[in-house]
Amino acid sequence: MNKKSGTKERAVKDDLTALKIPKHLGIIMDGNGRWAKSRGLSRAVGHKEGAKNVFNVAKIALKYGVETLSLYAFSVENWSRPKEEVDKLFSLIEDFYKNTAQKVKDLDIKLTVSGDLSVLPIKTQEIICEAMRLTEKNSAMTLNLLINYGGRQEIVRAVNLALKKGLAITEKTISDHLYTADFCDPELIIRTSGEQRLSNFLLYQSAYSEFYFTDVLWPDFDEGEFIKAIKNYTTRERRFGGITNE
Ligand code: FPP
Repeated sequence: MNKKSGTKERAVKDDLTALKIPKHLGIIMDGNGRWAKSRGLSRAVGHKEGAKNVFNVAKIALKYGVETLSLYAFSVENWSRPKEEVDKLFSLIEDFYKNTAQKVKDLDIKLTVSGDLSVLPIKTQEIICEAMRLTEKNSAMTLNLLINYGGRQEIVRAVNLALKKGLAITEKTISDHLYTADFCDPELIIRTSGEQRLSNFLLYQSAYSEFYFTDVLWPDFDEGEFIKAIKNYTTRERRFGGITNE
């Protein structure tokens, strides 16, 4: 390595050290269909590429020290897609748990789910639960997949769970009964593919989240794009409704 490139490497490293890493990062993975369409491929192929990227991005998040990564895999609204596409998405979700659970375990990543699994076929539920059991003692990072999830539905569920226990409804009792009760609120939410909306994603938890929207389509979201998002987040001043600290 010559002296010049050594200097450059150090500069890049120093730059990355200064990054502010969110403890809880949420990602709305969008754009699989457009990724496929732009290549003349079927939507199913786009979802397959998107599914492959789930483990890649989990490894990247782990490398940079994210504690919880929440990925929007299937919303309650996604049932309105053609049956063929819904079936494809669930077969990819099942494959992910079957084929990736051991690799996830070896990386000390814990798998969790936010959402109502009870309506899924028993076989699918078993595959997901088995993967969660396999990784339950892991602690380097939590990979939380949102499956059959809706933010409004989650809030209603949390309120009903608290009421059933005879608890008063407060911000804390609601938080404590959300699927994400064990995690802090996401400091940063990324959405790929140029769309700029929440689509029922972590509604209660995102009250003070920062948002980062990128035109990059989910299958193309890689380490470089991750760093761009984190660099942008690093420049944000989070005031939580207060005033700037001078
Ligand atoms: C949106 O693409 C993406 C989804 C429906 C959710 C994300 C799904 C995956 C990444 C695949 C399976 C997931 C796992 C966890 C293995 P879109 O169809 O809305 O894209 P478009 O807006 O370009 O049509």
